[in-house]
Amino acid sequence: MIQPKTVTAGITERVFLTPEPTSLVLILATLVLMLRYLTGRPLGKMPPVLPNAWPVLGHLPSLGLRADLAFQKLGKKYGDIFQAQLGTRNVVVLNSYQALKDGYIDGGDAYNDRPDFYSYQLFSDGGKGTAFADDSPAFRKKRQFIMKVFHHFGGGKAHEQLDMNIGEEARKLVTLSKSFNGKPFDIQPYVTVTTLNIICSMVFGKLHDYDDEDFGRVMKNLDNVTKNMINVGVLNVFPFLRHIPAIDTSGREILDNKRKIMSFVNQRIEEHRATFDPDSTRDLVDAYLKETQTSAGRSELTDDELAHIAVELMVAGNDASSYALQWGILIMALHPEIQEKVQREIDVIDPSTPVSISLRQHLPYTHATTLEILRFRPVTPINGRKTKRPVKLSEFNSCYENLL
Ligand code: HEM
Repeated sequence: MIQPKTVTAGITERVFLTPEPTSLVLILATLVLMLRYLTGRPLGKMPPVLPNAWPVLGHLPSLGLRADLAFQKLGKKYGDIFQAQLGTRNVVVLNSYQALKDGYIDGGDAYNDRPDFYSYQLFSDGGKGTAFADDSPAFRKKRQFIMKVFHHFGGGKAHEQLDMNIGEEARKLVTLSKSFNGKPFDIQPYVTVTTLNIICSMVFGKLHDYDDEDFGRVMKNLDNVTKNMINVGVLNVFPFLRHIPAIDTSGREILDNKRKIMSFVNQRIEEHRATFDPDSTRDLVDAYLKETQTSAGRSELTDDELAHIAVELMVAGNDASSYALQWGILIMALHPEIQEKVQREIDVIDPSTPVSISLRQHLPYTHATTLEILRFRPVTPINGRKTKRPVKLSEFNSCYENLL
C-alpha cells in the first residue's frame, strides 16, 4: 500500500508518497510492462541466452569465422533454440532441422519478414525486390510473378531452351578446363561466368559471349557487390558505425556497383520493349512487359522493381550456384573414388544425349552425390528472417526477434 505522508514546509503542505516494498515491486512491474509495450518487446518465456557475452562485441569473439559450426556446437549444450548477441544486436538462433521446420515451414507467415540489417536495407533500397523485403501484399505479388516465370522455365519450349543453354555452358567449362592441359588453374572465374550466363539467359533471354564488354563489366560489378555485402556485415551488428563515413566505404561500393548493374538491366528492358511480342515470352523481362500490360500488374511492378528483382537473381543465384559448383568440383577432386563412380554412371548415357534435368532419374548415385555435397558444404549455412509478431516456438512462447 502506498502511504501518504504529510510534511509541513513553511506555510505550504506537501504530500509525499512513500512506497512500501510490495508497492515498489508493483510499480516496477508496471514500468517493465509499459516499457515492453512501448518498445514492442514481448512478455513471456524467451529462449536461453548464451552466457559470457563480451561488452559491445557480444558473443562474436567466441563464434569465430564459422558461426554456423560454432552454433552447432553450442546447440549441444543450450538446445535447438537460443539467443545470441552479435555485436550490439540480439538474435534468436534456430539451430536444428526441427526448429527450422516448426518455424519457417509450419509457423506460417509470422516468420516471413527479413531482418532489419543495414546491408539488406542498403541493397534493396528499403525493401525493393523480394530477397530483402518484408512480407506484404506487394511482396506476395512480386513473389507470385517470379514463381510464374520460374514455372514458365519448368516446361515446354522455355525449359528445352534452358536445358540447351546449361548444356552449352557446361561444354564451354569443360573445354576451358581442358585447355590448361592438366596444369593447375583457378576455376572460380570460369565457373562464375558460366553460372551467371545461365541466369542471365533466363532474365534477358540470351547467352552472352565471354568477351562481351558489357557482360564483363557487369560480372565485375556483381563480384564487387558480393564482396562488399560481406564486408558491410560488420555494420549489421554494429549499426552505429555506419555514421562514420570512413567505415561505410563498403556501403558506398555496394550502391555504386548496384547502380551500374541496374543501368545494364535498364538498357536490356528498353531493348525488350522494342522487340516485345505478347505471344512469345522469351524471359523474365518479357514476362514483366506482359504482366504490366494490365493495370493490376502495373500496380506493384515497375521498371525499378524489375531491375531490383533481376539484380537479386543475378547476385543470389550466381553466388549460390557457383559456390555449390566449386565445392562440388573440389570434393570430387578430393574423393576420386566417388568421382569414378559418378563418372561410370554418367558414361552409361549416350554421349549425344543433350544435357537435361530429365536425365536425373537415370543417375541416382550422381543425384545423391549432389545432394550430399550441398549437405556437407551448404553454401548458405546461415540465413536471416524476422518474426513479424511474438510467436510460440517449442516451449518458448515469446520469440520475437531477428532470426538466424
Ligand atoms: C545451390 C543452389 C542454391 C542454394 C543452396 C540456394 C539457397 C537459398 C537460400 C537458403 C535462400 C533463403 C531462403 C529463405 O529465406 O526462405 C535463398 C533465397 C534466394 N535465392 Fe537461392 N539458392 C540457390 C540457387 C539459386 C538460384 C539459381 C537462384 C536464381 C536464379 C536463386 C535466387 C534466390 C533468390 C532471389 C532468393 C530470395 C528469395 C525470396 O525470398 O524471395 N537461388 N536461396
